[in-house]
Amino acid sequence: MKVGFLQFSPKFGEPKENLNFIKTKLKNSSINLLTLPELALTGYTFKDYEEAYSLSEEIGGNFTQELIKIAEENDIIIASGFLEKEGKSLYNSSVLLDKNGVIGVYRKIHLFYKEKNIFTPGNKGFPVFSIGDIRVGLLICFDWIFPESIRTLALKGADIVLHSANLVLPYYQTAILTRAIENRVFIVLANRIGREERFGQENVFIGGSKVVDPSGKVLLEISDKEEGLFGVNINPILARNKNITELNNIFEDRRPEFYYKD
Ligand code: ACM
Repeated sequence: MKVGFLQFSPKFGEPKENLNFIKTKLKNSSINLLTLPELALTGYTFKDYEEAYSLSEEIGGNFTQELIKIAEENDIIIASGFLEKEGKSLYNSSVLLDKNGVIGVYRKIHLFYKEKNIFTPGNKGFPVFSIGDIRVGLLICFDWIFPESIRTLALKGADIVLHSANLVLPYYQTAILTRAIENRVFIVLANRIGREERFGQENVFIGGSKVVDPSGKVLLEISDKEEGLFGVNINPILARNKNITELNNIFEDRRPEFYYKD
């Protein structure tokens, strides 16, 4: 299976242009499972809730349909960040879809900084979805700093974490290796690049998208200067082996009775 990411700088407030860009970059791609950045169609630095609301859509809306068409044209499975509306609530979400439609949605549980002024925190937990024999979990950016996020996905059987991000802090570039090792999962990090300066807020996005294997080995990594589609072949079944030595299985050796519970 070939997994990959598209690292780019989405144009703020221009979902059609961003969709066209994604479509162009996917031409003749051999990737099977693609991760796009957080809020890949709209950009990130919203003036306020009203502006974000005007760019949002329900699951299954026009942008989702366009992504499904792109998935169909390329026979590819896509996880993409998108700005989801449900009633008056806005969610910073990731949608997983293929040519047959939406497979599932994850709503970002841990909101970062001023996202708290706009979004409702995710309320649907950390779902794991099956793609044939493979199980994938979705994650969005700042979720990483809570080890429970990827731990929960791994304990629920995820082989691959499709991590859509708009990272602005540097820490995950190294912490991702630990997250992969401690859970023995593949992580595909699709991070955006570029800079947004709007209404006195500035965000500089750090790129560094990568694919890490369950032993913490970086299989693919690009800098914050590169833009484009990148992929690597993996064997997702390797994530089913949770043994770190012959006598240590990272799940069976857990001692939850001694771990702190809120
Ligand atoms: C982030 O969670 N977008 C930093």
